[in-house]
Formats: sequence, structure tokens, C-alpha cells
Amino acid sequence: MLFTGIGELVTNDPAVGDGSMLGIVRDAAVVVGDGRVLWVGPALGAPDADSRIDLGGRAVVPGFVDCHSHLVFAGDRAAEFAARMAGTPYDGGGIATTVAATRAASDAGLRGLLARRVAEMRAQGTTTVEIKSGYGLTVDDERRALRLAGEVTAETTFLGAHVVPAGADRDAYVRLVVGPMLAACAPHARWIDVFCEPASPHAFDADEARVVLEAGRAAGLGVRVHGNQLAAGPGVALAVELGAASVDHCTHLTGADVEALAGSDTVATLLPGVEFCTRSPYPDARRLLSAGVTVALATDCNPGTNCSSSMPLMIALAVREMGMTPAEALWAATAGAARALRRSDIGVVAPGCRADLAVLDAPGHLHLAYRPGVPIAAALEV
Ligand code: NIG
Ligand code: FE
Repeated sequence: MLFTGIGELVTNDPAVGDGSMLGIVRDAAVVVGDGRVLWVGPALGAPDADSRIDLGGRAVVPGFVDCHSHLVFAGDRAAEFAARMAGTPYDGGGIATTVAATRAASDAGLRGLLARRVAEMRAQGTTTVEIKSGYGLTVDDERRALRLAGEVTAETTFLGAHVVPAGADRDAYVRLVVGPMLAACAPHARWIDVFCEPASPHAFDADEARVVLEAGRAAGLGVRVHGNQLAAGPGVALAVELGAASVDHCTHLTGADVEALAGSDTVATLLPGVEFCTRSPYPDARRLLSAGVTVALATDCNPGTNCSSSMPLMIALAVREMGMTPAEALWAATAGAARALRRSDIGVVAPGCRADLAVLDAPGHLHLAYRPGVPIAAALEV
């Protein structure tokens, strides 16, 4: 299949096109087959193919990689959002509401909700989504969340250590997470994650987080961390020390945190929808980029801190509120997020990579930030 008439193609391959980080080719074509990219280049030099589709001058970008979401949940917390807009701060306490609703939902009910959310993401240009458990908090409910997530993505993350369930003893709960819960969940998960946030009475401190992450790593899972969301804390240092693929939120960072990230392979995943929906100060993306840290963008789509599934909105917020250039924001939402998942087959449009593309109803990628809230992006059906 030959896609031609691409006004602007963003490849994220600096070896082609304009030589920038986005590797932009104008008046481009892409040939795909068997779910892979076979050829990329100027339309004039495109090889023959069985069929061709003319995109009429639209832009094509790598499909968005939403490397942080919590899509397995039932119910909503719109009332909590309204209270927050009226001044109530977020502390993670509302997670218990979603845990109760999610436990009460049937498999079929959750599967339907999940399918709708993944379709909503695809319709906005997202072609890979990472999905965490964390609204079950029992062995059976966490395993179920990961089983359902595994039906729609390979990027599944065990987040039994999201919060200590209401009424549970902290130590006993951590033992449950690293014992029977991990044993039940590890076969369904690629990653382990923990909400490490000493500023929240519901989340886990550095010692508890270390126990959880080391157990997950020993069980063969890759490490990710929710860190430094509500206040500066130990999340980033722990993530770097344990070789985490990503530490997510990074809203409150010390100079030492930035230095540690810069000297590591750990990606800083920024989630500007959370700051938007919790009315919080945005992380300083410029400080991270200037230090040489690899930055990713994701939605964190969840019922509490950001119920938006829109990667284009995250790009617009990153540009408007976090000082990223449109090119840096698009790179972070695609190639950067792929690095946060330690994937080299997505986030880039180059021969051999997955044919995961998004088409923009616009002449170029600048329109992603320039036209906030307008549904110009969609996954390209190949
Ligand atoms: O990434 N902060 C921790 N966990 C989620 C929010 C979960 C919720 O409030 O339901 C997050 O922001
Ligand atoms: Fe999250």
C-alpha cells in the first residue's frame, strides 16, 4: 500500500529529510505492508505498490505513543474534579471511589469501557497505549485488570502499589503486593510501577516503593515509577538507581533529580493533563531538556487526575504551558514516549518499523499545538 500526497511527513529519523530531530520530508510517500513500513521518501521517487491512497497534502506523523494511562476503571469522578476547581487539592484519596466502582463492574462491562477508550484514543492519533492496573488492589481484581488490558495492548503495567486500600495495614499490604499479588499478576504484565509520593497519605514512601520495585524486577518486570507529582521526594532518585525505563509526573524536581536523570537512561515522562485538571503548576520541561534529559509526553488518562485521552491536547499544553517547542513536544509524544517503553519499533517512521502512523487534517505538525481542541489527528488505518 502506497500513501502518497503527504504534504509534510514527520519521520523522527534525522538521517532523512530536513535533517532536524523530526526528520521532515515534504511532498512525501510511505509504502507499508504486513503492518510494517517498507519505504519512506519523496513522492516523486516512490516505488510501485498494489494500491495507492492520495492524502491530498495532509501531514503524516508517527502515531502517538501514550506511554502512561490507567484505562481499566469504572465510574467517574466528575464531582471530585468540580470540587478541585473550587479549591480542594488532590491527594489521591479519591482513588478509593474508583476502586469500589471497578471491583463492582463485570468483566464484560470493563471490557466494553476499555474498548471504547482505546477507540477514542485511536480516533485522536494514538497507536500505542500503555495501561496500568491499580484500581483492583486485591489479587483477583489486579489480575483481572491486567488480563483485560492485555487484550488490547502489549504494554501492561502492574500497579498493585497504587495506594494502600482503605482500612488495610500498610506493611501487610506491601507484603501482599510483593507476594501473592505479584505472582498472580506478573504473567500478565510487562512492567511494574508504584505511586511513590510521601506527600500523599495513601501512596508509598521510598522504602516501601523500593521493596515493591525490586520484587517486580526480580520477577522479570521492567521498572516504572510515579514520582515527584505532589512534592519533591525520593521517586526520581529511586527510579534512576533501579534503572527504571521512566519516571512519570516529575512535577517537583530538585537540581539533584535533574542531574540524576541527565546521567541516566531513565526517561522523564511529563503528564501536563494532570496539572491542567488538578490546577497545579506545570513541570519545567525546559530545565529538563537543557540538562539533556530525554522527555516523553503522555496523557495519564484516568478518572481522577486527568480524564482526557487526547495526545494532541498534551502537545498543545506542553507548548503553551511548559515551554516546549512544537517539534520537541511532538517528538516527546512519539519517539520520546517510545523510549519510555524501551521500544525502537514505534515512534519513528523508517523501514522495518511498525506502520503506526497518524494523519493530520492539516498541512503540517505545527497545527497540533496551533489548533487546540480541534480533532485534526487520527490513526491512519493501513
Ligand atoms: O497518575 N497519582 C497517582 N495515580 C494517578 C491518579 C489516580 C487517580 O486519582 O485515580 C495519576 O495521577
Ligand atoms: Fe498515573
